[in-house]
Amino acid sequence: MIFRQLFDSTSGTYTYLLASRRGGEALIVDPVLEKVERYIQLVNELDLRLVKAADTHLHADHITGLGALRDRTHCITVMGERSKADVVSMRLAEGDKLTVEGLVLDVIYTPGHTDDSYSFLMRDRVFTGDTLLIRGTGRTDFQNGDPRAQYDSIFNKLLRLPDETLVYPAHDYKGEMVSTIGEEKAFNPRLQVKSIDEYIELMNSLDLPNPKMMDVAVPANMRVGLAQEETARRGWAVTAKDAIALIGRPDVALVDLREKSERQKHGVIPGSLHAPYPDLAANVRPGGMLHALAAATGQRILFYCAFGERSAMAVQAAQDAGLSSACHIQGGLDAWKKAEGPLAR
Ligand SMILES: [Fe+2]
Repeated sequence: MIFRQLFDSTSGTYTYLLASRRGGEALIVDPVLEKVERYIQLVNELDLRLVKAADTHLHADHITGLGALRDRTHCITVMGERSKADVVSMRLAEGDKLTVEGLVLDVIYTPGHTDDSYSFLMRDRVFTGDTLLIRGTGRTDFQNGDPRAQYDSIFNKLLRLPDETLVYPAHDYKGEMVSTIGEEKAFNPRLQVKSIDEYIELMNSLDLPNPKMMDVAVPANMRVGLAQEETARRGWAVTAKDAIALIGRPDVALVDLREKSERQKHGVIPGSLHAPYPDLAANVRPGGMLHALAAATGQRILFYCAFGERSAMAVQAAQDAGLSSACHIQGGLDAWKKAEGPLAR
């Protein structure tokens, strides 16, 4: 496995780059905007293909690299379903899996630092965001933070992992890089409380100054979505309402770009083909499955995904590959459901 812990010294943020092998798909967790060039360089040096960029929560102390990485590499942006970010490509909930080729991370909802905080567990290690830090815990005094919820997330979820589980947090300000669940149980001063009320009192008495970047970072991180208007302006978008009338038409091929797990959980548009987004480049190039389909049948390719972000990027890639009829359902299945479009399982 390839595993890199990268550091942004300005914000004290740790970013993690993960892949199962050289030449394979990569995932990045908690990227920082100012470091995006460095990440891309490293991804190239290690001969990786960045397919997903995930944030553990909406950060207040730095601007996320999610949007810039998506724009540069066309990767899928991922956050938890509770995130207040306007649009991400994929939203995950407790019990879902965050996957790239050869790697599976379990999504654990760990609110408290914020109400959109998630941890990602991968076999021997857990990425705890700002829920559990090394010898500390994330503050709970803004962004709908809640010390009671954090106590529950830490004591009833994270500390129940095996003691030897490695703890990789999103931040450290003292140069600590990794810990274990057992070490934190024993030595984390915030966790040496006798009751939930003692923890709440402790967290409510911290009286910390707001992060310097907060007024800039929070609004910026809430507007991370791809501007789908540009795709629409070019005539490559169909509203969910208009798309309902296209179901079953012989001249339209509906193509679902989501993953199998998303299809199973959220349903599919009846009659749609499945062509997962990570295989897109191979599918739209001349000789690829979708290119051949459009050439053979003259069908218009109508992409869709969860929120319209993957499909907007797919339209651009398909157009670039010469599929001039390619378009997408703006807003994805989310908009489709709001327009009361039919679903199959
Ligand atoms: Fe945070």
